[in-house]
Amino acid sequence: MPAAGDSAALRTPLDAADDRILTRVFAAYMVSATAWLLFTTAVGLLVSFKFAYPDLGTAPALSFGRLRAIHTNGTFYAWASQALVGLALYIAARSSGTRLYSERLAWVTLALLNVAAVAGTVALDLGLSNAQEYREWPWWIRCILGAGLATAAWNMIATVATRDSEDIYLSNWYTIGGTLWTIIIVLVALMPWYQHGLGQVAVQAFFMHNAVGLWFTPLALGVFYYALPKTLSRPIYSYSLGIFAFWTNLVFYPIIGAHHFEFSPLPWWLQTTAIVFSVAMLVPVLAGSANFLLTLHGRYERIQRSPAIFIVFGVFGYLLGSMQGTVEAFRSLQQLWHLTNYTVGHSHMTMYAFISFAIWGGVYALLPRATGKYPDNLAMGIHFWLSAVGVAIYVIALSAAGTIQGLVWLRGLPFIQSVVDAAPYWLWRAVGGTLMFLGHIVFAVNVWAMIFGRTRSDRSAAAPAVAAA
Ligand code: HEM
Ligand code: HEM
Repeated sequence: MPAAGDSAALRTPLDAADDRILTRVFAAYMVSATAWLLFTTAVGLLVSFKFAYPDLGTAPALSFGRLRAIHTNGTFYAWASQALVGLALYIAARSSGTRLYSERLAWVTLALLNVAAVAGTVALDLGLSNAQEYREWPWWIRCILGAGLATAAWNMIATVATRDSEDIYLSNWYTIGGTLWTIIIVLVALMPWYQHGLGQVAVQAFFMHNAVGLWFTPLALGVFYYALPKTLSRPIYSYSLGIFAFWTNLVFYPIIGAHHFEFSPLPWWLQTTAIVFSVAMLVPVLAGSANFLLTLHGRYERIQRSPAIFIVFGVFGYLLGSMQGTVEAFRSLQQLWHLTNYTVGHSHMTMYAFISFAIWGGVYALLPRATGKYPDNLAMGIHFWLSAVGVAIYVIALSAAGTIQGLVWLRGLPFIQSVVDAAPYWLWRAVGGTLMFLGHIVFAVNVWAMIFGRTRSDRSAAAPAVAAA
């Protein structure tokens, strides 16, 4: 029996029928998630052009307030969540050397996530909003989302329960743990007695940060722990370090949400605790990042022309974005950066450079193994560079704009001065966003090739015919 950290544990074959079911499910989640990526980032792009050209699309259905929430909730719960759940189900079966517990349940999950996303998008565009960030969807739609997560957790747990080894592979700790915690977070945020007053602020802080810290982060890390050893053909550097990062993540993350509401009427001790724990977050972040980078050590040649390049970029997105978050949490810097564009830069440094790159790394590493169909290397490279350069421009432009806005406000200058000063950077953000969006179109073409394209054997069979023609 392979040891838990051994890459052999990642490689157990299924029988052909089970294999086909798993591939079908995995492919369907990726198609759906990719469609949402295109839609929600097209909306994000339109919103970014509205900063530079405020008269663009003035109908209520195209107004900034509605489209912004459609972009944020859609990228969160449709693009990233569907992609991560699809990857987590695939990893659960593959790393456990067993079949997916229930294909039907997997379709129910995908249907619930899509019903929630469509209903949420339509509701927001009609102006029906809960007006709390990242939980703008009306409560009954968030119940559907919660049901989707519950069915996903059930399928993951039941799949891993029938594994052929004693140990549960590290990735499943992260993906199952993250899904269970998120169900709790969604439920807490629905409780009627936390919908007003200071309780509402505290719960909003709890929800907001845990949506990113206990949902997207553990799922994306779970993908790293499986996809990185796969692409490098070697085990993860340290299984124990991975477990250590898992538990410290759980100890420190849940309490740091109050750093979103510093200088608010929330108890001062709660804000201070949140800041202290934001610093403590360096422990799991450094442990996790070191584990990934040490796994990579000595295999740098494997990064080029392989999905590992997305994973490595994602690891740096995680490391730098989280360290940026720690610094941002200090009161002295919150005074400067809170409510400015700097936070939006941090959001994309993390949700894009970390989470979205982790998903892309996982999809490019695992989908071809499932379908036997590979994307064109050049097309994968074009996607990488468009998204990488695009997000770099995005984050640098907004970090500069946010710092300038903060300085203008601290000096007590008229608000309009900060608008005038930030305007050129907003145009740069739109330029970066355009590159990112073009990258997503190339990604969609690659997903198509990985699912509906030709296998490598088809291509080599066609090659002599092409040469003869
Ligand atoms: C083409 C790519 C993208 C573009 C052009 C874009 C653009 C934007 C814009 C213009 C905003 C509003 C910012 C503001 O109010 O000042 C925004 C907010 C946001 N976007 Fe994106 N975005 C893109 C991709 C993504 C992706 C893939 C994700 C997540 C996976 C994401 C997550 C967010 C979040 C969390 C916010 C809220 C930021 C905050 O309030 O701090 N974006 N985006
Ligand atoms: C050590 C880890 C981290 C710390 C200490 C941290 C800290 C912070 C702080 C202090 C803010 C508030 C900024 C403000 O309102 O002025 C913030 C916002 C945010 N963070 Fe992080 N962050 C961390 C990691 C992450 C990760 C990994 C993600 C994504 C997966 C993320 C996503 C976000 C988002 C989306 C916001 C914007 C929230 C809003 O709209 O107000 N953060 N973070």
